[in-house]
Amino acid sequence: MKTELNEARLIAEIDLDRLPRHIAVIMDGNGRWAKKRRLPRIAGHRAGIKAVRQVAEACLRLGVPYLTLYAFSVENWKRPESEVKMLMDLLREYLGREIGELNRQNIRLRVIGRTHELPRLVQRDLDRALRETAKNTGMILTFALNYGARAELTDAVRELVDRARRNGEAFDIDEQTVTSHLYTREMPDPDLLIRTSGELRVSNFLLWQIAYSEIWVTDTLWPDFSQLDLFNAVLEYQKRERRYGGLTENAAAKGASKG
Ligand code: FPP
Repeated sequence: MKTELNEARLIAEIDLDRLPRHIAVIMDGNGRWAKKRRLPRIAGHRAGIKAVRQVAEACLRLGVPYLTLYAFSVENWKRPESEVKMLMDLLREYLGREIGELNRQNIRLRVIGRTHELPRLVQRDLDRALRETAKNTGMILTFALNYGARAELTDAVRELVDRARRNGEAFDIDEQTVTSHLYTREMPDPDLLIRTSGELRVSNFLLWQIAYSEIWVTDTLWPDFSQLDLFNAVLEYQKRERRYGGLTENAAAKGASKG
């Protein structure tokens, strides 16, 4: 009851006309959450699924159109084989259970990353989830899986070089050309990047796309992340002044009156 009141109070403070269009999240701290409770690491990952539901629900309630979650990085293969296997099993379990709920909420699922390198059964379940939610027109929920920003940029360069070789002709490359060869080509850049569990790193996540994103870091461990945390992050985002390397309106006006 108290949580609901707090949520309602925070939502009322949010300016719905200035919402971030795209929120990206580095979900970190599952292992620490489990360690604090003397549980195996996988219990932390499992508890992390609850937070995935919370953050999606909070974005839906506000009307944020794009949410992207960093679920498995290209570097995560370095973890013990047993943990990697359990993460993959957990992902399959999530997909198996959640498609109905995603459809009910009109959420379209997407994935970014080198998904062709994931275990075959994971790929099969992913394909099914993408197909079965493809017609949904509400929020786009993207999982970054076997994702690395350097890998993404490498893939984009490779595609461009292949195209040049095939066509045997030179073509101009500008920022738009690069953007249109990234995995994220169909989505806007994130306005807000959230990282949980206090680390001040971007960990090879959407490096090109977060060039002008606002970054919000919380000490909360991912499994404890709640809708309240998301609302607080959006409020904090709305307090920031985004300048994209330019001047604020006031500073620009002062400069103009001087000239
Ligand atoms: C980081 O915590 C989290 C991950 C590497 C995986 C994220 C996975 C989930 C939230 C659960 C499953 C997700 C889906 C999409 C079904 P960590 O293990 O690095 O934590 P630590 O830094 O405290 O050890």
